[in-house]
Amino acid sequence: MAQSNSYDELVTQTHNGHGLPASCYKDQAFYERELKTAFANNWACIGTVNDVPEAGDIKTMVFAGASLLMVRGRDGEVRVFHNYCRHRGLRLVNEPCAKRNRLVCPYHGWMYELDGALIRTPHVAGPDDHDGEKAGIDLPDGLHGVRMAVWNQLVFVNVSGTADEFSSVISVLEERWSDYDFSGLHEAEVSTYGVGCNWKLAVENFIDVYHVPYVHPGLEKYNSFRDHYMVHDGLLSGEGNNNVEPTDDAVGKLPEFPNLPEEKRHTLEALSLFPNLLITVTVDYLRVIIVEPLGPEACREHVKIFVNGEHAATSSELAEHRTQLRLRFEEFNNEDVEIAEELQRSMNGSAFQKAYLSPAFDKAVQTFQMRIAEAVAQEPD
Ligand code: FES
Ligand SMILES: [Fe+2]
Repeated sequence: MAQSNSYDELVTQTHNGHGLPASCYKDQAFYERELKTAFANNWACIGTVNDVPEAGDIKTMVFAGASLLMVRGRDGEVRVFHNYCRHRGLRLVNEPCAKRNRLVCPYHGWMYELDGALIRTPHVAGPDDHDGEKAGIDLPDGLHGVRMAVWNQLVFVNVSGTADEFSSVISVLEERWSDYDFSGLHEAEVSTYGVGCNWKLAVENFIDVYHVPYVHPGLEKYNSFRDHYMVHDGLLSGEGNNNVEPTDDAVGKLPEFPNLPEEKRHTLEALSLFPNLLITVTVDYLRVIIVEPLGPEACREHVKIFVNGEHAATSSELAEHRTQLRLRFEEFNNEDVEIAEELQRSMNGSAFQKAYLSPAFDKAVQTFQMRIAEAVAQEPD
């Protein structure tokens, strides 16, 4: 690391409420260590099943230092594989594509089913002899799969394969939000933002309510920082408010979650699930922001809004209310992007070594930073 702190000292510093120093937001080596630890060793979100809507649709990405493929099979299942051919390791697919029948390696023609099975090894035993067994090679069954899980259409991967069972990780959120019936959710609005800041600044800003009256005077009117409570529970950190009263035209127009208890109808919770999922729920929508790290000083936010029922997600009748919902978010997200990029510039030219976190308002940020410090203190694989 560029600064004097060792990884263990960062654990102590964050547990003592003094946060992470500026170097953690700009240092290339620290960033790469995060990819190999915080991202690889946990369940990170890489998208939704709707990113590959039809059989044969393929999404490519580099994530946690690994080149990955997300593929929709003929059976409708979404699977994630390492993006390399089992023969000599060439990258199999270079860019997203649609409705492929099979995956064929451009180097020597090895062919894979959409479920990853290796189905053809041309001439492997000699000209016109394709039988690997005859060639005496102990061939793999197929592509190298990535440990993955799907939860309410969100796709998570654990690249190292060492994280706790996904069910035990997600159960904290499931229990917390057990009043919400997510079974009818449909993806309605999708947008992507490139942000010139370290990915952690995007996460920390999202779970920070302290800045609301200063940065978002419009939001403060219906979702005041005075009403907030903090959430910090293991890998989950963020905040909630039981007194949210938006005033735009989308209010009351989109279907609410079925059978939601009356006392939850003005609740909004905005949480971060470590490391990179930001997730918001309220009476009539679920919104996710998947934070994709791009480098020490850049990230991308993939924003998706889910609403209840296909009609709400697609009908022209409700289109303006869906747009209103997106704009409600965009207004303050633009304010957030501005401040996050300014904070990045501050970190770049700064001697900032330790924060003085507010026990009343910075508990969620502290929890997230503690998880970062603990993650990077682990030896990468
Ligand atoms: S590397 Fe893919 S077929 Fe040889
Ligand atoms: Fe904000």
